[in-house]
Amino acid sequence: MTTAATKTPSTSTDPLALIDVDHVRFYVGNAKQAAYFYAHTFGFRIDQIADLTTGSRDEADYLLTQGNIRLMFTTALTKDHPAAEEVKRFGDGVKDIALTVFDAEKAYEQAIRNGAESASEPRVISDEKGSVTVASIKTYGRVVHTFVSRSGGYALPEVKRGGTFMPVFKKIDSPVNDYNEAHPCGLKYVDHCVGNVEDGKMNHWVQWYEDVLGFTMFKHFDDKDISTEYSALMSKVMSGGNGLIKMPINEPAEGKKKSQIQEYLDWHDNTPGCQHLALRTDDALESVAELRRRGVDFLSLPDAYYEKVWDRVDSMLKAHGHEAVKEDHDRIKELGILVDADDEGYLLQLFTKPLQDRPTLFFEIITRRGSQSFGKGNFKALFEALEIEQERRGNL
Ligand code: FE2
Repeated sequence: MTTAATKTPSTSTDPLALIDVDHVRFYVGNAKQAAYFYAHTFGFRIDQIADLTTGSRDEADYLLTQGNIRLMFTTALTKDHPAAEEVKRFGDGVKDIALTVFDAEKAYEQAIRNGAESASEPRVISDEKGSVTVASIKTYGRVVHTFVSRSGGYALPEVKRGGTFMPVFKKIDSPVNDYNEAHPCGLKYVDHCVGNVEDGKMNHWVQWYEDVLGFTMFKHFDDKDISTEYSALMSKVMSGGNGLIKMPINEPAEGKKKSQIQEYLDWHDNTPGCQHLALRTDDALESVAELRRRGVDFLSLPDAYYEKVWDRVDSMLKAHGHEAVKEDHDRIKELGILVDADDEGYLLQLFTKPLQDRPTLFFEIITRRGSQSFGKGNFKALFEALEIEQERRGNL
């Protein structure tokens, strides 16, 4: 007797096989204004909207695009819309990391069988151009993952070519789009998306990503890696879709003073959420120079950082037979960019200050030159910089 059935289905038959990050949805207090902020400061195209003028009666949505990044800014038009309550509790922030799949209903059913809790049941939205199916599951805290499958005119390749996102959306023009085309920021896609969870819950959520979505553990840091005199965190990186998306999970660790993860939770109604989105560019120097011209507020580093960094990075690269950092060292320092290396190569990264008044969500700009890690060597320097900011906010 032969056993033809296999426990691990091939990618084409696995309902949880991921095609792309469909979009990242923010719940904000005023999507019209948020759209302009992100378009102006980070170079996103304000591409399309759904609002009262297009037949959306309870929410307004602004789709911003750049490279293969799609950010959706959603605001409530009525007091009963969930976005109204969430903005009250959390301020502006990430609600949904939506994943494109082949069949959203099947992906949702499989995730539920794997132990996920439903956030919203499968729903088909269609018109004469095509259809979009969405279904959502709850992950940590206030965040959900929506599975999205698309067909006809709403297939993802069509959307990437500038097609309409889904029914009820319409394309719009804005002078800021013309400016951005002439002055590109070079952001290409979402490299990783980091979640802050409660003390002691990191392993729970690591297990959840393994069990529910079939993700695997990518890297592991502990509080010896990521600690300063005062505060610390622990972090494990989960990877899904054959490396399509990485989801590091942080929890606070004991320190003499308050961890930045705890500070986030304190200002996020003690509820886990997305701490930062890392946006990938092929040229961090060009991107950061343009973002600085536009007034993006980046974390500034202690002066001592550049006294030590080249020895640390170049000796690591040399030890593993890689070429030294090719970008101009003086220019990197001038732009305040961080550098780190591991056995596979190096990376350039830089973090913004919080993107809203609460010390919650921020962005990271990252360029990878072989390295697949997250800048562990920078954590200490970074934490010292973050603590200076925490001190200024009276939260240390
Ligand atoms: Fe990061």
